[in-house]
Order: sequence, then C-alpha cells, then structure tokens
Amino acid sequence: MLRESGPRDRAAFIELLASPEVHTYLGGPRPRDELERELPGAPERWPGSFVVALDGSMIGQILLRRATEHRLPAAKGKVDLGYLFLPRAWGCGYAAEACAAALDWLADALPGEPVVLTTQTANLGSMRLAAKLGFTEVERFEAWGAEQWLGMRPPVAVSG
Ligand SMILES: CC(C)(COP(=O)(O)OP(=O)(O)OC[C@H]1O[C@@H](n2cnc3c(N)ncnc32)[C@H](O)[C@@H]1OP(=O)(O)O)[C@@H](O)C(=O)NCCC(=O)NCCS
Repeated sequence: MLRESGPRDRAAFIELLASPEVHTYLGGPRPRDELERELPGAPERWPGSFVVALDGSMIGQILLRRATEHRLPAAKGKVDLGYLFLPRAWGCGYAAEACAAALDWLADALPGEPVVLTTQTANLGSMRLAAKLGFTEVERFEAWGAEQWLGMRPPVAVSG
C-alpha cells in the first residue's frame, strides 16, 4: 500500500537512512545516533512522497520530485523517481509493484509528464527495476565517483 508518512514510521525511516546495505550506491548511510537526534517526530509530507507499507508497516519509500537542480539538461525540471526499500523486503517484487502504482498516481495527478530516474550503473537491482518500469537510457555520466545512468519514461498516452 502507498500512503502518507506519519509518526509511526519514524523507526523505519531511521532504519532505512542508517542502513549501509541500502546506501551501498547512494554515498553511504547517515549515523544512526544523528538520525535519532535530528529526524522530526512526524516525517515531512508532500504530494509525491509515499511510504510503502506491507500489512501496515513501512518497508520502503518512493519519492516523485521535480528535479529543479539536476546537473543534466535532459533531466532538469522533470519529475524524478527515487526509491529506497528495507533489505528484508528486497527481491519480492514489492519495489516494482509500488513504483508502478506511484507512476500511475502521477499519470492521473499530472497527465503527460515524462519521468526521469538516475541510478549508478553498478546498482544492478535498481537498473533492472528501472527497465521493468519502462525507463530507457538517455545518457550515462560520471558523478559522485561512479558511473551514473539517466533513464526516462515517456508520458503514458491518454486514450480517447
Ligand atoms: C533497488 C531496489 C528498490 C530493488 O528492490 P527489489 O525489492 O529487489 O525490487 P523487486 O523485487 O521489485 O525487483 C525488481 C527487479 O530487479 C531485479 N533485481 C533486484 N535486485 C537485483 C540484483 N541485485 N541484481 C540483479 N537484479 C536484481 C529483480 O529480480 C526484479 O527483476 P525480475 O522481475 O526480472 O526478476 C532495492 O534493492 C533498494 O531499495 N536498494 C537500495 C536503495 C537504492 O539503491 N535505490 C536506488 C536509488 S536510485
């Protein structure tokens, strides 16, 4: 289920942001004690920010944000998809199902928007997920000490 975040998700957010496994290709985790101190009691909410819940408990996060600062002109100003899941939920198809649902939500909320996605090429799970969701390569580039992949998903055609 996709839903808004709430105070009950704080512990899962800390687990997600402090996990070395989750941040292998994302520049490393944040220290757990810093997160315990600094994360607000009620996580920030905005349209396009989803908690992914399984039986009520948070297993991941999906973000659809306008890439106002993207370094590549092809991505600048476009809606950008990001996803983070707790390792215990990996490999079950939840990421593919949840991201597809979030992209459907976007197609209703903002019809005709292409979506971009940036990921390290070494992040094989993320690359596979991007392909499954219909993203195709725009370009590869070097940043943050690694090869990155910019993919784009064309807007879903509106019938009738
Ligand atoms: C990337 C991530 C969301 C994938 O989650 P997941 O639960 O494994 O995804 P799914 O189960 O929906 O699988 C999607 C596809 O990727 C494949 N896959 C997952 N991990 C893989 C890996 N390490 N190597 C190769 N393929 C992999 C799955 O087999 C599946 O493809 P298939 O249906 O053809 O078998 C998860 O690993 C994650 O949260 N990683 C940390 C955060 C991160 O790196 N995010 C990317 C930010 S850009």
